[in-house]
Amino acid sequence: MLRLENKTAIITGAGSGIGRGIAEEYAGEGANVVLSDINEEGAQETRAIIEEAGGTARCYGKIDVTDYDAMRKVRDQAVKEFGALDVMVNNAGIVVYDNILESRLDDWRKVIEVNLEAVYMGSKLAAEVMVEQNSGRIISISSIQSFMTTSQVGAYNAAKAGVVGLTKSMAVELAPYNILVNAIAPGAIKTGMSVAKDGTDETETEDFKENYLAKRRIPLGRAGVPRDIAGTALFLASDDCRYMTGQLLIVDGGYSLTL
Ligand SMILES: NC(=O)c1ccc[n+]([C@@H]2O[C@H](COP(=O)([O-])OP(=O)(O)OC[C@H]3O[C@@H](n4cnc5c(N)ncnc54)[C@H](O)[C@@H]3O)[C@@H](O)[C@H]2O)c1
Repeated sequence: MLRLENKTAIITGAGSGIGRGIAEEYAGEGANVVLSDINEEGAQETRAIIEEAGGTARCYGKIDVTDYDAMRKVRDQAVKEFGALDVMVNNAGIVVYDNILESRLDDWRKVIEVNLEAVYMGSKLAAEVMVEQNSGRIISISSIQSFMTTSQVGAYNAAKAGVVGLTKSMAVELAPYNILVNAIAPGAIKTGMSVAKDGTDETETEDFKENYLAKRRIPLGRAGVPRDIAGTALFLASDDCRYMTGQLLIVDGGYSLTL
């Protein structure tokens, strides 16, 4: 028995990394997955991978998650094609490295817009349909940086903490409609974002290998991979998750436990 048989999920940022991992996992469990990404090529590649494996995936073109008319059309098209919207995964994200003194308001706004405002709007669009269905799951990808930090990531941290606050609030508001709202806090996951800082994959640096792996700053001794997050996202979308809402699930190999 597949765990998401006949379910329909929209996944933002599904053109690479964690979003692609979630899309593959969901499709492998029988879901119809609607892939949206500003990188259409990446999303089409994800679609091709899923179809090759025998799954059902759609990509309705290049979709910027902050273009709310475009996102509304994706939602409407998904519901028209598959008859329902069961799961919304707010995953698309960006990071801009800047400290408070040198950072620019434009960059702050962009990071907040993609990582927080679009989560609000994606959730709202999904909730409008899910309330009518009296069922649904909203899953947002936050970060361990919502509660721990380094320098140069103020806007990102603020946005990811905002996602946690919004998740709790929506969980309370949407519970009467049988809509469960949860978030995931990934740790260091090997994706395109791990090379965002200066072109070096931060999970491949000597510092990472020595401190985070060999000395077990990450107790499980490895960087995460998209599948690690996808498994948790599958649980949150499935019938195994029935009585949990408004929660942040930390998936970081134990990283946030260590000093
Ligand atoms: N990789 C990590 O270590 C890590 C840790 C914690 C949280 N996260 C979060 O996981 C999520 C996925 O990131 P990832 O690591 O897979 O990185 P990634 O860069 O591989 O994937 C992000 C995806 O979002 C898409 N995207 C960016 N801006 C968009 C926009 N305006 N509209 C639509 N799509 C857009 C990108 O094209 C890309 O496909 C993000 O929210 C990120 O903040 C990642």
